[in-house]
Amino acid sequence: MIGKKEGRIFSGVQPTGNLHLGNYLGAIRNFVRLQSQYECIYCVVELHAITQWQPPTEVSSNTREVAAAYLAAGIEVKQHIIFNQSQVTAHAELAWIFNCVARLGWLDRMTQFKEKAGKDKERASAGLYAYPTLMAAEILVYKGTHVPVGEDQKQHLELARDIAAKFNHDYKRDVFPLVEPLILGAATRVMSLKDGSSKMSKSDSADLSRINMTDDVDTIARKIKKAKTDSDVLPSEPGGLKGRPEAANLVGIYMALAETDINSVLGQFGGQGFGVFKPALAELAIETLAPIQTEFRRLMNDPGSLDSLLGSGADRARALADPIIAEVKEIVGFIRP
Ligand code: TYM
Repeated sequence: MIGKKEGRIFSGVQPTGNLHLGNYLGAIRNFVRLQSQYECIYCVVELHAITQWQPPTEVSSNTREVAAAYLAAGIEVKQHIIFNQSQVTAHAELAWIFNCVARLGWLDRMTQFKEKAGKDKERASAGLYAYPTLMAAEILVYKGTHVPVGEDQKQHLELARDIAAKFNHDYKRDVFPLVEPLILGAATRVMSLKDGSSKMSKSDSADLSRINMTDDVDTIARKIKKAKTDSDVLPSEPGGLKGRPEAANLVGIYMALAETDINSVLGQFGGQGFGVFKPALAELAIETLAPIQTEFRRLMNDPGSLDSLLGSGADRARALADPIIAEVKEIVGFIRP
């Protein structure tokens, strides 16, 4: 691959509905950018989605939504692979082997499990607990080397490195690479529009907390108008955002959308109130998202084409994963014909 960097990108998004601006700025936009530099595999990870209850019809429609969002954002399926993970069984096979490599103590430290399981951890599924080993398996069943994600996935990728290192050590073979997280851009952790101390999330029951990829122009403008702020004007220096999480979040979103730095945003808006800043932010968000949404809606109107695209992506993914899972089975000592 002339002009390309060494390595293989793998990343995924869960089809749990409410795909939002954080998913776009923290992950999907970077997926698009990286495709000119690396060979890329982008997966819709519905095995992850069912770690918490999802009605079956929603699993399939949300799977198409994530696939349509990948395409609408600009991922080129001729050069790169898009598929849904349940079609490639090697993910689950390697995940089981990794369940036998990862230590309980490592999984016990995963903060996302604690957040998602909440107080009633006894009632969380075993799948939710073991989810980081599946994530490691998805990446490593392709010997993926670089993984673009938002900040919240960093701990899971550190675990993937630990699993790869222990597997290589236990079986005395240099099989798996140690994956590098790619946490890129100004919006690696977009916060809720209603609470600057919690992450913008698909599962937040308050729809006003996030800008969904499917929100129309008026909804985006309304949500930004209603976003929580304080009563001060914007500062002229970054230090002036300290202790003002909601203001810092909106400035961060503006920075990411405009692809500029904080000083230029504050240079433009320092001394002005949110009455000026919010409409400018809404306009910028709409300008960025509208073309993606138009393409997204067009794709969602043709579910048959999306399904066949996912099917051919899965064929290509399987062709890459099959020799690697075969190699692993042989190393572990499993008999094959
Ligand atoms: P998921 O589906 O929750 O989110 C998809 C991607 O969006 C990023 N993200 C954010 N970025 C910035 N601000 C936010 N508020 C925000 N919320 C989410 C996430 O970091 C992620 O990159 N476990 C993963 C999916 C996954 C995966 C993988 C990723 C499964 N297997 C293998 C990489 C490689 C997850 O639940 O992401």
